[in-house]
Amino acid sequence: GIKAFIFDLDGVIVDTAKYHYLAWKKLANELGFEFTLEQNELFKGVSRKRCLEILLDIGNVTATQEQFDTWMVEKNEDYLAYIDEMDSSEILPDVPRVLNYLKGKNIPMALGSASKNARAILEKVGLISYFEYLVDGTNVTKAKPDPEVFLIGANKLGVSPEACVVFEDAVAGIQAANNAGMTSIGIGDESILSEAQYNFKDFTEISNDFLGQLIS
Ligand code: G6P
Ligand code: MG
Repeated sequence: GIKAFIFDLDGVIVDTAKYHYLAWKKLANELGFEFTLEQNELFKGVSRKRCLEILLDIGNVTATQEQFDTWMVEKNEDYLAYIDEMDSSEILPDVPRVLNYLKGKNIPMALGSASKNARAILEKVGLISYFEYLVDGTNVTKAKPDPEVFLIGANKLGVSPEACVVFEDAVAGIQAANNAGMTSIGIGDESILSEAQYNFKDFTEISNDFLGQLIS
């Protein structure tokens, strides 16, 4: 049976993709080109550095190392201005119910995110205490779909990968969970996340009964 749960952050616990989008769009516009919501899909689960590389490709912009570093900082400062305004009202529907249910069953939980801002965001929305361990952009070297992020999480929680469930909204995240040998649950569009073992539109569709069966 399942002994632990690992949650992605952006798009699973909170909808920060819209803030990432606004910050990247501002930078693109400053550099003289457009950045669409559709292109923003490519940025989900992808590191900040890789996102900037893709953005500059989209705009056909070449950058010196110094410019690249400046733009990384600028994007993050704009993003953090949005994060600074966040509170618990931005937690996605039924996430607290699922966290409370699992906590009540003494099931350990970890975060598995590419974001270097993960701790700050969890603190802002008041969910930090649910997680025994944060695996985030500060302690991961290999990007999803590499399983590293989730394998570190399982290791820190002291459970085998086969006994872990992962909640993910990104294709690369589902692949990372599958590559880790974990049970993958896609949160979002089933047609996009078809590689997941289970699919749900959001947490309102995940019943306590379903969770109870996983851990029994
Ligand atoms: C998550 C998001 C990505 C973001 C990455 C890094 O994976 O889905 O869109 O680029 O984190 O976030 P950071 O907060 O470190 O810039
Ligand atoms: Mg995500």
